[in-house]
Amino acid sequence: MTLASEVDLRQLLTRERHRIHLVGVAGSGMSGIAALLLELGHDVSGSDKVGSLETDRLQRLGLRFHVQHRAEDADDAEIVIFSSAIKKENPILVSAREAGKQLVRRAEALAAIMSGKRGIVIAGMHGKTTTSAMTAHVLREGGLHPSHYVGAEIPLLGSNAHWDPRGEYFVAEGDESDGTLCFFKPEHALVLNIEEEHLDFYPDLAAIESVFSQLLDQTFGSVFYCVDDPHARRICGARARSISFGFAQEADYRGTDIDLQDFASVFCVFRRGEKLGEAVLNVPGRHNVSNSLGVIALATELGIPFAKIVASLRRFEHARRRFEIKYQSDRFLLVDDYAHHPTEIRATLATAKSAGRNRVLTMFQPHRYSRTKALRHEFGRAFDVADRIVVTDIYPASEAPLPGISGQTIADEIAACGHGGVSYQPRLERLHSDVGNMIASGDLILSLGAGNIHEQLSILAADLVIAERLKEIVGEEGDVRLYEPLAKHTTLRVGGPAQFWVEPRSEAAFADLIRYCRRENLPLFVIGRGSNLLVRDGGMRGVVVHPCGGEFDKVDVSGNEIAAGVGAKLKQVAYAGKAAGLGGLEWMEGIPGAVGGGLRMNAGAMGAQTFDSVVRVRFLDGEGNAHTKKPSELEINYRHVPSLDHNYAVAAVFNGTPSTPEDIARRLDESQEKRRTTQPSAKSAGCIFKNPKSGPAGKLVDELGLKNSRVGNARVSEVHGNFIINEGGATAAEVLELIERIKDAARKQRGVELETEVQIVGEEA
Ligand code: EPU
Repeated sequence: MTLASEVDLRQLLTRERHRIHLVGVAGSGMSGIAALLLELGHDVSGSDKVGSLETDRLQRLGLRFHVQHRAEDADDAEIVIFSSAIKKENPILVSAREAGKQLVRRAEALAAIMSGKRGIVIAGMHGKTTTSAMTAHVLREGGLHPSHYVGAEIPLLGSNAHWDPRGEYFVAEGDESDGTLCFFKPEHALVLNIEEEHLDFYPDLAAIESVFSQLLDQTFGSVFYCVDDPHARRICGARARSISFGFAQEADYRGTDIDLQDFASVFCVFRRGEKLGEAVLNVPGRHNVSNSLGVIALATELGIPFAKIVASLRRFEHARRRFEIKYQSDRFLLVDDYAHHPTEIRATLATAKSAGRNRVLTMFQPHRYSRTKALRHEFGRAFDVADRIVVTDIYPASEAPLPGISGQTIADEIAACGHGGVSYQPRLERLHSDVGNMIASGDLILSLGAGNIHEQLSILAADLVIAERLKEIVGEEGDVRLYEPLAKHTTLRVGGPAQFWVEPRSEAAFADLIRYCRRENLPLFVIGRGSNLLVRDGGMRGVVVHPCGGEFDKVDVSGNEIAAGVGAKLKQVAYAGKAAGLGGLEWMEGIPGAVGGGLRMNAGAMGAQTFDSVVRVRFLDGEGNAHTKKPSELEINYRHVPSLDHNYAVAAVFNGTPSTPEDIARRLDESQEKRRTTQPSAKSAGCIFKNPKSGPAGKLVDELGLKNSRVGNARVSEVHGNFIINEGGATAAEVLELIERIKDAARKQRGVELETEVQIVGEEA
């Protein structure tokens, strides 16, 4: 391997043109280097495990991108630049080393590129990216044509890195996380804060401070530092050309009269006692006011007029993933933030709390095993102001797992600090669903972490847009919930979440829902009391309508007729009949379902079935239009009404037979007695199979000797062979497997093809 001197490297990268390969080019830091090298005119290729939006953009600028790291793709490269996340045994590194090529670390390359201009390094533990972007923006608006390199995509700047041949300055976010800060020899440095972090790399605070000291020793112009940060003050304060900023009285550039509003701050700026004027910052939080004072100090010292600085600060928009608003309405505010250190989390949560919403619900993805382990106690205390916290598992970055360290570690610490609202969800892809199901109007929902948790908030934001529209449709009186667990709404108590759970209270709202779903191509499914339903563990996509309350729950008797909405229980119809001296409906007493389900599947018991008593059904068709039909106008079968497969019943009229109170009471007793003695009382979905022509399915299961057979917590009832009961905590997958076993046995041993009576819906987990 050849070691270039710094001067050589600057010459190679900023004055000459070469063939360069970047290993790990998709990362946010490496992609910035690639952009700079392309703009400097080099012939650049790069490799990574996966592509990203960044690599797509770079390819348009001329990057030759290779998925996977193969030595041959970098064979013709003269220089190989690699990310600190790349392992020594990476094939491109191995082959470049063997060929004696120039191998350069990311930070060395950045330092060399920066040395081609007058460097300004922004350093500190927290807030670097926002402050670097703010500096580049203010210098750019001030007409200095700065080049820049920051750790995230900055919409306002156009990209995370840019080489501007017209300007003298280069603004870079310095990365202290792996000690590479000491490569920089800038003209100016801006130090925001220093504290214990990255303990995977540094033994202690003293080691961190020594890296900062080295950077400052190598800074030949001014050192700007935050006077309110004790460590920064100690390390920077005594230096010859140091300039302080912050809120303390002694700050050279001081902010006062700070008015923190929802997402903006207004404050006064003084320079050594002289009032410069008022500034407005459109990025939330007191910490950002402090950081902007550093930018004001630097820009003023570079000669940009205060009025110009203030005008550009007013236009500054923060970086992606820095208190980024993903969705905002009167009811909800969704914000994503990169915070992953306890101090950052506390600052972001304080900002969130000051936004004036009711509750702050937080989802958090810890970043790195080493940080989780080292700062576990600090994490435990960082979430005090959050109302609810769902912690997922650790985003490892490039680390191998540490035994006993997981997201649970942090959830436990938070709970140990007395927080009652924390839970752990190890599966990242379920996070949006867990948090989404908690939300109520007035909530601010925050995703926190440096990994990929923001994707979960984006899913939630997209679904919330639809949920809000659904809420408008059902109005104040209706209800809309995201990711409602369907296990709560089925008698078997299994099943994953419904993407959108909607409770309309009127036929008009139901009709509007049908039209909306049709227009938006959203699946629509209606669920009543969920008594004959088996929902798979992955839940249901689309809108699950549960018509209940309002006109749907009404039961009215008129003469011999009982009119009932689909949300009413079948049992209520039986008892309304009893009260009015109308019999023939007593069997309904034992059916746990609602009128809607009874109609849809022509439910029955005691030798009777729903449509024996129906006079008229009112339903909505696929376009939301209402129709009223007599049974003779419909196709009706045993436990299946094809005419209602694609129409949605809203009400029905039943015909009762005038009977004496004694007769009705006797038949009700008989039904209850039959049910009590022949059916289990445990959680079930009623009869699982339709009775085949050969005889009752329950009897067949019994004869096959399958009673009491089980899969997990799903068991065939010993009371009745056609019931599968959930003993507690059973999954849909277990119930389905048990069903398959029974069908198999019936087929093989009896030649009987059992058909399920329960409706099986939803997606696998
Ligand atoms: N039997 C057995 N072993 C068993 C279960 C039943 O030998 O484990 C025998 C019974 O002794 C009886 C015959 O099988 O001689 C039929 O049993 P049952 O009278 O319980 O009626 P079923 O046909 O199994 C039907 C409905 C039930 C309804 C009852 C009561 C179907 C698929 N099932 O059951 O409806 O409650 O009649 O009238 O039509 C439902 O639809 O979800 C449901 C539970």
